[in-house]
Amino acid sequence: MTEKDFVPSAYTHQKTTGKVGYRSPSNIALVKYWGKKENQIPANPSISFTLDACATTTFVTYDKLSKTSPDFSFDLFFEGQPKPDFRPKIETFFKRIEQYLPFLKEYHFKIETSNSFPHSSGIASSASGMSALALCLMQLEKELNPNMSGEFLTKKASFLARLGSGSACRSLEGDLVQWGVHENTKESSDLYGVKYPHEVHTVFKKYQDTILLVDKGEKQVSSTIGHDLMHGHPFAEQRFSQAHDNLSKLKKVFKEGDLDTFIKIVESEALTLHAMMMTSHPYFILMKPNTLEIINRIWAFRERSKTHVSFTLDAGANVHVLYPENEKEEVLQFIVDELIAFCQNQQYICDQIGFGARFLPQES
Ligand code: DP6
Repeated sequence: MTEKDFVPSAYTHQKTTGKVGYRSPSNIALVKYWGKKENQIPANPSISFTLDACATTTFVTYDKLSKTSPDFSFDLFFEGQPKPDFRPKIETFFKRIEQYLPFLKEYHFKIETSNSFPHSSGIASSASGMSALALCLMQLEKELNPNMSGEFLTKKASFLARLGSGSACRSLEGDLVQWGVHENTKESSDLYGVKYPHEVHTVFKKYQDTILLVDKGEKQVSSTIGHDLMHGHPFAEQRFSQAHDNLSKLKKVFKEGDLDTFIKIVESEALTLHAMMMTSHPYFILMKPNTLEIINRIWAFRERSKTHVSFTLDAGANVHVLYPENEKEEVLQFIVDELIAFCQNQQYICDQIGFGARFLPQES
């Protein structure tokens, strides 16, 4: 599919007012997206586990305006309160998607959104937030064009979510989603995420992710700036080709349930992401001393317990501790005994692999 396939033809129905809602989860990348081209096209393919507990719930109430507005007309509430800081991000998002949703200036929107995870936990809410909003807008488009298939709705919502925040296009479905063209996956696309179409061993079902909140402060460097620093980065080309290789290797790993190789790839991806930040100009470090302490303790525990606990990192100091469900009891005990002391206010979130966004039916 190309961008043109997402430009709608004339709508068959009209809708003056209504309300739609979605709950959409966050996701954690195993092969990282870091570096992009124009129009939110990723520099390399990535793959993620969709999460379950960490999610954004968004309701959009829409009212048709008497005439098309020159600007986007919307009110924004985060956890019940007006949220002016979020407005520019939504404005930019609306501008980017307007050509694909030509009705945007014909309505006033009331956007009400909330997160299941604590505010300013350092957990990126852009993936869950942008995917939830894209789905709400697609639900309205479906009301204007009821013939639209569910499959197309999800694909276009992923396409739109990507224009809001790249990683958001991987949050709509579960449990593994790939985004970006890769030679082994013929259905893969730079424009939207696809459910991982290859065989996945049962050991990866219900995979656990305990998120250790090491530093809840504002990020010193936004992802957008970080991605930008991959332009002209001395190791960019090697990094992009490494991501392709890692995705190729993961195909066999997922099929065979080879946890040892899984761990090597996933931890190397996390450290490479941070290595890219440390070797860009300007360079920066998002890990904190406690991030390193946790990583070292995970390695020591894995060695002595012979479990398959591993870690990955986002663009921040928090640590995602990954492990198979059948090792949950032992690993959780280790986390409580040894790791939460390194979290801010001992905070952590127990999550696991999830199955994507959920429509929230409204009474009409
Ligand atoms: C490190 O999706 O937040 O989490 O497209 O600029 O919104 P934008 O970036 P974003 O980048 C996420 C980067 C990452 C890795 C990943 O999720 O693949």
